[in-house]
Amino acid sequence: MSQQLSPEHLEKIAKQFGTPVYVYHAERIKEQYDKLLTAFDGVDTKFFYAAKALTNISILKYILSIGCNIDCSSINEVKLALKAGFEPQNILYTSNNIAFEEITEAKELGVHINIDSISNLKKFGKKFGHTYPIGVRLRPNIMAGGNLKISTGHADSKFGVPLESIKEVLDVVKETNLHIRTLHIHTGSEIKDVEVFAKGIEVLFEVAQHFPDLEVLDLGGGFKVPYKPGEEGTDIPLLGKKVKEEFDQYEKKYNRHFQVWFEPGKFIVSEAGYFITTVNVIKNAGNKIFAGVNSGLNHLIRPMFYGAYHEIENNSNPAGEKRSYNVVGNICETDTFAEDRQLPEIHEGDHLVFRNAGAYCFEMSSHYNSRFKPAEVMVKNGEAYLIRKRDELEDLLINQIEIL
Ligand code: LLP
Repeated sequence: MSQQLSPEHLEKIAKQFGTPVYVYHAERIKEQYDKLLTAFDGVDTKFFYAAKALTNISILKYILSIGCNIDCSSINEVKLALKAGFEPQNILYTSNNIAFEEITEAKELGVHINIDSISNLKKFGKKFGHTYPIGVRLRPNIMAGGNLKISTGHADSKFGVPLESIKEVLDVVKETNLHIRTLHIHTGSEIKDVEVFAKGIEVLFEVAQHFPDLEVLDLGGGFKVPYKPGEEGTDIPLLGKKVKEEFDQYEKKYNRHFQVWFEPGKFIVSEAGYFITTVNVIKNAGNKIFAGVNSGLNHLIRPMFYGAYHEIENNSNPAGEKRSYNVVGNICETDTFAEDRQLPEIHEGDHLVFRNAGAYCFEMSSHYNSRFKPAEVMVKNGEAYLIRKRDELEDLLINQIEIL
């Protein structure tokens, strides 16, 4: 059974820090990382936490403290990772469609870069030739992932160098003597089926034969975690077994060893996160009952943006009689968190807790409607620590210049 924060503990945190508040359970993050280490025991693997899921500096420091590496998706994430204390050699920068200047900057910082366009590969080769090993982000032309918005490896996707352009990559390598150390793919997020990863491996093995300097095959992130009750995530032990089999076989056949890299985001932090809100208003409107909380799409946009499901618990009345509710926000948009959701009877002032709130939740929040972002709290060894203060009015004015 995975570790969870008890309703009583969450209630105490809501009282102490107020709501809306994001709460992250440190030991649960470690539990997820340990699952990976166990499943891939005996495979030459490195895991890079995809920081884009959640970048609070205390979270990054915690990730570092448990021995995990880090994957970044912007130069600022790279700088945050350095600030958190990661060594450049443990930082991966998997870019897409970025300016060449940013790639040069990342090179100066000494991190490993996965470049995702022929144009930038050319520029990099011309400028640095063989001196700085890099990775190529490929588009494997595999359709997978929870929904189209989070599918990144299919044949119409903007991400990566399309497989059909490999010949051009080889021409650039020849022309500029580029040192290709890694090949990368990331097929999408919420991939349950282990066979999708197997397909990705097949693609990479095929391409690998053209690259003699290659040391690493990077399979990206995308492990599915359960969001709905009874739902199952990616079978990580099975994936570990499969990867071991595939890489052992390849090594035997071709006498070539590759290290395997993964970049999990959701898997590491999603289930460690809780989002506590307070019900402002109960509105009986014809055949619907709306429970309006002190939050909205400005704090948690996944349900509106992806149609994503987040389990909701009525922390204040868990044993109440179940009724059907539309749980909505207070933003001037139709920000429905859940439609026709059966929940224990809700009263104004109750605390509703959203589960799976660790990944892409606070991180995708905004100041829309000039509302404050929530506070963030980390629970570690049973103690609750404030790791981000709630905004104040001045935070809404930061960087603005009054010219009148
Ligand atoms: N590596 C690369 C290159 C990626 O683009 C991503 C996610 C990951 C790793 C981590 O994927 P994960 O293990 O977290 O599935 N905001 C969306 C998810 C977008 C993911 C973008 N790339 C959501 O909330 O579902």
